[in-house]
Amino acid sequence: MSGSYTQYAPVLYGIGAVNELPDQVKGFGANTVLCLYDRGVAGCGIGPRVMGILKDAGITAYAFEEVEPEPPDYQIDNIYNEYKDKGIDLVIGLGGGSCMDTAKGVAWLFTFKKESIRPYLYHDSRWMWADFPLILIPTASGTGSEVSPVAVITDTSCNFKGGILVHTTLALLDPELTKTAPPFVTATSGLDAFSHAAESMTTKVTNPKSDVLCTYALSNIMKYLPIAMEEPGNMEARNALSISANFAGIAFSSASVHLGHAMAETIGAAVHQPHGLCCALTVAPCMEYVGDYTPDRIKMVADAIGVDYADIEDDGTAIGLRVGDAIRDLLRTCNIPSFADRGVTREQIMALVPDVVSNFHALKCPVPLTEEMAEKYLARICDAY
Ligand SMILES: [Fe+2]
Repeated sequence: MSGSYTQYAPVLYGIGAVNELPDQVKGFGANTVLCLYDRGVAGCGIGPRVMGILKDAGITAYAFEEVEPEPPDYQIDNIYNEYKDKGIDLVIGLGGGSCMDTAKGVAWLFTFKKESIRPYLYHDSRWMWADFPLILIPTASGTGSEVSPVAVITDTSCNFKGGILVHTTLALLDPELTKTAPPFVTATSGLDAFSHAAESMTTKVTNPKSDVLCTYALSNIMKYLPIAMEEPGNMEARNALSISANFAGIAFSSASVHLGHAMAETIGAAVHQPHGLCCALTVAPCMEYVGDYTPDRIKMVADAIGVDYADIEDDGTAIGLRVGDAIRDLLRTCNIPSFADRGVTREQIMALVPDVVSNFHALKCPVPLTEEMAEKYLARICDAY
């Protein structure tokens, strides 16, 4: 039996790396760029700063500052149709996952010169990889979208979320861009990255490369996320979180995620809560599931986050519970509210058992997910935190 691992985008990283953006743009032979971000990135000054860096270097740069969350198909189409005749030869996505996914969608339309992306969200697009020059610059350490080949875009006619595939030319990580993120964004982004690493280390399609990346990400997020919460300007912490989120993104691009994201995405869609928060609240029960069914793998997670299990060496369930408790301690340190705190009831969550089992992330669970299992771990989300 064979396995696979890969990396979809080269990475330029480091404090101040954004100042090298013009050299990178010119190095790709581009001189007219479209930079996509949202009002938050504009309002905190990062958007205008990046535009200034580009323009000061003599690059013609257009800014689109109104990127919407949960990228809607009509916005991808509108941006492409507005800018397709302006000589754009490179697209930049600057911000969180929505900004980067929107940039991926626009780059996809520039590649295939289609007026609308909606039909292709359903298309068997495995061979339709966009390769229009694209630079992705995250402003929070979380989604790993800058190195994942997929963009999730919403068909707004029926609320279906579909995916398109993109070769990203460069991922640019500058931890300085993350230090102004609000505490809730720092916490939920960091825990989203934590969940990517914890789940990628425990799927049924793990690989040696993702194991190494996940070990680094888990140990560093465990250590540095509380420091970044306490001292937002601590650049050692911001740098470690930036690399960790990126490593976790590379890991899940080949090893995938599983039960945690199956529960998080199902709950998030049903009760309209942010992705990072949902992942933060589902990762501990997910690790309890891992302990129940794959004891060797829960030990790897425990080792990475510094949980001692010498006294319960042969009891995967007990190790899983101990790992779960350590994660819940991290959540409390980061001031993560429970679903109940957010007005979501136990009844709402427990009604989602069938949807969790049929979620496509469940296909990567290390052992097949049954309704009884989904019920058990959904209940833990409500009752244990
Ligand atoms: Fe995620």
